[in-house]
Amino acid sequence: MTGSASGNFRGISPAEFFYRNRQMAGFENPTQSLYTTVRELVENSLDSCEEARVLPTVDVTIQSELGRTCTVSVSDNGTGVPDENVPNAFGKVLYGNKYSSRQRRGTFGLGVTMAVLYGQISTGTPAVIHTKTAQNEGNEYSVYIDIESNSPIVKSSNPLKRKERGTTVHITLNGDLKRSRERVIEYLRLTGISTPHARITLSLDDTERYTFGGFTKKIPSLPVDSLPHPHAADLELIRRLAAKNPDLRLHEFLVGSFQQLGHKTAEKFLNFIRMDPRATIGSLDREALSYLGNSLRKYDKFGKPSATCLSPVGKESFFNAIRKEFNATVIGYSQRGPLEWDGFPYIVEGVLAISDAFEQSDIPHLFRFANRVPLLYDSTDDVFAKTLKRIPWARYKPPEISGVAIFTHFCSIRVPYSAAGKQSITSVSSITSEILSLYRELGRKLKVFSEGKKRALHSRRKLKEFSRLFNLLAKFSSEVAGVDNIPDTSRMINELFEVDSDV
Ligand SMILES: Nc1ncnc2c1ncn2[C@@H]1O[C@H](COP(=O)(O)OP(=O)(O)O)[C@@H](O)[C@H]1O
Ligand SMILES: [Mg+2]
Repeated sequence: MTGSASGNFRGISPAEFFYRNRQMAGFENPTQSLYTTVRELVENSLDSCEEARVLPTVDVTIQSELGRTCTVSVSDNGTGVPDENVPNAFGKVLYGNKYSSRQRRGTFGLGVTMAVLYGQISTGTPAVIHTKTAQNEGNEYSVYIDIESNSPIVKSSNPLKRKERGTTVHITLNGDLKRSRERVIEYLRLTGISTPHARITLSLDDTERYTFGGFTKKIPSLPVDSLPHPHAADLELIRRLAAKNPDLRLHEFLVGSFQQLGHKTAEKFLNFIRMDPRATIGSLDREALSYLGNSLRKYDKFGKPSATCLSPVGKESFFNAIRKEFNATVIGYSQRGPLEWDGFPYIVEGVLAISDAFEQSDIPHLFRFANRVPLLYDSTDDVFAKTLKRIPWARYKPPEISGVAIFTHFCSIRVPYSAAGKQSITSVSSITSEILSLYRELGRKLKVFSEGKKRALHSRRKLKEFSRLFNLLAKFSSEVAGVDNIPDTSRMINELFEVDSDV
């Protein structure tokens, strides 16, 4: 007999897992990989500039060689990466400083490390990182990943002065610039809409140059870490919180561990579920903790989550950027939230705009964003795209209006992405119904706008007809009266219609 039941078992490292399943993280082929690399590097730069509280200047360059190998370089004026963190930040999959409870672009500690991994397996080159924090003069590193053990290999590290604080990352990978060019441009253009205070430049093969964003100099306020909402209290969370402070009495434990749970609410809640407020949390067994968690999740009298951990684009900034980028007429803005899904606070916001720049179709063209990041792939799996088809747009949109677009932004401390590539949002039923309401609200705004347009068209036609008749009348009356000068009727018409003559 060959092989034994216990023979082939072994674990694999997270780097090994993503090496085998790189399509899950958006590295399926050279076209998508180049796009994802740009996206991950730009995301990190913008997160870092947000942390540093500066107006972001992000410069992206792509140099291609022989149509297959591309070097992507992204430079920012963010915080820089502390020396002791560089190896792990760039050479260890699932390592980062963003596992917190506020809205951020990065989430898993997977973005740039996947790009480093893909670069190394497709071209054999390490990532090169040149970074300076407020505490040093600047250093340059070249980093590989030991995929089997998921640990960084620093090939070299040298002092290299850098004038300003910030980071430049160079990754050489197997990429198809010709094919991904449009997507990269579109991605950066839309990033300029959702992060309108960032100024982003793109240079392709030293021959094409673009500038995006820079629509405002106002830096949005930094979202702050928040305590979990009680509806997020699954057994694991309760267990971890309890382990931190086992001696706290139940009442204090609840007040100190969750948002929307003040002294009065805690008292009412504990009374309602008949638990002793003076019992220490550490004394509860698994069953009692589970009961507590279930009750927290089900209780419907907690307040709505606080929005301080979120950073929506906001009406004014969204309008301004869309107007400028697409030469569009903005019709309306709607926002739903702050609400929570599984206890995670979120806001959905949307703008409806019309412009010749948007595709003509029976349903509005959709631009999707999550935590200020444009989502360009996998729209068929996305809750915003699916829900858009459920709205009877013909009811809101007259045939004369073409080129309608909707910009949707979902922001949350936890976005329910369908996959690690973060390209689409799954259909969570409570979110779906909010999106439907958002679309309907925008639809009604479109209807008001279209009806206004219809009325304007109608009165313009009426005005034309009256002008013609008044002119005829004036002409005939002059002839009858034997007067040579035909009186000007335009003033009469304008007064009658109470409009300017150019309506
Ligand atoms: N341009 C940058 N500026 C500052 N820190 C960075 C930059 N790029 C990467 N980092 C650090 O590297 C970590 C890992 O990045 P990444 O793999 O993209 O994961 P994530 O962005 O999800 O945390 C980040 O959490 C951050 O601390
Ligand atoms: Mg990242």
